[in-house]
This record gives sequence, structure tokens and C-alpha cells, in this order.
Amino acid sequence: MTRLISTLKDMAAFALECERDGLSVGFVPTMGALHEGHISLIRKARAENARVVVSIFVNPIQFCAREDFSEYPRNLDGDMKLCSMEKADIVFAPSIAEMYPRGFETYIDQEELPNRMCGLVRPGHFRGVMTVVAKLLNIVRPTVAYFGQKDYQQCAVVKRMAQDLSMNVQVSVEPTVRAQDGLALSSRNQRLGPRQRRDAVCLHKSLQLAAELVRAGKTSVSFVVRKMRTLLLAVRGLKIDYIVFANPGTLV
Ligand code: PAJ
Repeated sequence: MTRLISTLKDMAAFALECERDGLSVGFVPTMGALHEGHISLIRKARAENARVVVSIFVNPIQFCAREDFSEYPRNLDGDMKLCSMEKADIVFAPSIAEMYPRGFETYIDQEELPNRMCGLVRPGHFRGVMTVVAKLLNIVRPTVAYFGQKDYQQCAVVKRMAQDLSMNVQVSVEPTVRAQDGLALSSRNQRLGPRQRRDAVCLHKSLQLAAELVRAGKTSVSFVVRKMRTLLLAVRGLKIDYIVFANPGTLV
């Protein structure tokens, strides 16, 4: 049975027990509405650790003003069932007041990584992610924390933060889980209509096209970007935020 913990005090007590007993803790931070992508992380954590903690917290400070905090899908009962099936030991689901009590005013930010890619169209997003991830790591005290490669920039930002702040945790990055037609699984996919859902496959198609072109020796970035743009803009109503070729570590 998976135990539901909702206070920092109870979560800290569990962490202390694990430390005292020398048990490794695998941690999967999430915002809930769990799907096979999250489950793959939970399975990896289960295979590699004595204890598994999954957090479910829709973090208000990582949504920028025009984003969907109130419409973000929530399903704690369903999530608890899935976590039980995967034999997670703990679901940690704190309230907003518990995480951000009155007077809260300390945030974590970075100089460069958040100023690229998604960071440019989602101001403040990575500051919110880093702050909540740092808090969760301090509360849960895991041996290993698991993140999905689907959110590549998030992985880069979190790895950099853990290294820069000498955090005593291993950050593990796991492959993207996709639907049969290639679209990456995402809690937000629930919010797409049937046509939008079909159109969304163009994201994966454009990445595959880029990979094919590069494999075929077409290594001019501007040429590959042009081909990707053409493929994407064939979808009615689609707006491109960015297409970037970058160094995988620095994102430059
Ligand atoms: P969330 O979007 O719920 O994702 C939780 C974790 O699951 C992240 O590490 C994400 O990369 C991973 N994930 C999501 N979809 C995936 C897929 N299709 N394949 C593999 N992994 C996938 O990312 C967040 O929440 C938040 O920003 C969080 C880190 C919890 C901080 O609030």
C-alpha cells in the first residue's frame, strides 16, 4: 500500500527514518495526472532503490501569468491507484500553504540556461521549477532523483543547479515515452481536442525529419531549420516558438 503524506513534518520524519536505516530513496517529482511517462520514472526508481517517493504538487510559481495553472489536470485518486500498482512507498502531496507559507520570499535562479528555448516564451518558469525542486529535494532527501528527457531544458537546469549548489543527490535522466503515433505523453495532452491531438504529431515528425536530414549529410543548420519550418507550418493555426540547434550541455 502506498502511503499518502501531505505535511512537511511527516515527510521529513520518513526521510530521517530512511537515512537512519541506510535505505536508498528514489524520488520522482511530478505535478500529477500521471501517465506512462511518469510511470516509467517510478519503475526505474523502484528497480534501483529500497524506498520510492513520488511527489504530486501543481507548483503555482512555475506557471507564468498567461498559463494554465487553474486548468492544469488534477486527479489525486487515480494517481494514488497508479502509484500503488507501481509499489511506490510514499506519495507526497503537500498543499500550497505548506510549500509557500505567508512570508515566503526566497527563489533559485540561474544566469544563462533559463534565457534560452522555453525560458524565452515562459518567463519565470525555470525559476519556479528550480525553487520547488530544491525545496522538494531538501524535504525528501533522496539518493537519486528521476527526470524525463521530454523536458530537456528542465533536466539541464536541474543538473546544473544540483552541481552548482553542491546538492547531495544524483540526478538521473530517463528516455521520453511516446504514444504510438510518436507524440510525447504529457498531462496537458488531455486538453487537446481531436484535431489538435492529430496535428500535434507534427512535433515528432519535424524532429525525425531533422534527424534524417542530418544522417543524410545535410548539416547546414539553416537548411534543416527551413525544412522543419515548412513541415510545421503546414499545420493550420500552428505558431512556432523556436527551432534551435544547441550544445546539449550549455544549450548555446
Ligand atoms: P510533470 O510535467 O508532471 O513531469 C514530471 C516528470 O515526468 C518530469 O521529470 C517529466 O520530464 C517526466 N515526464 C513527463 N512526460 C514524460 C514522458 N512522456 N516521458 C518521460 N518522462 C516524462 O516536470 C514537472 O512535472 C515539473 O516541472 C516538476 C519537475 C515536478 C517541478 O514542479
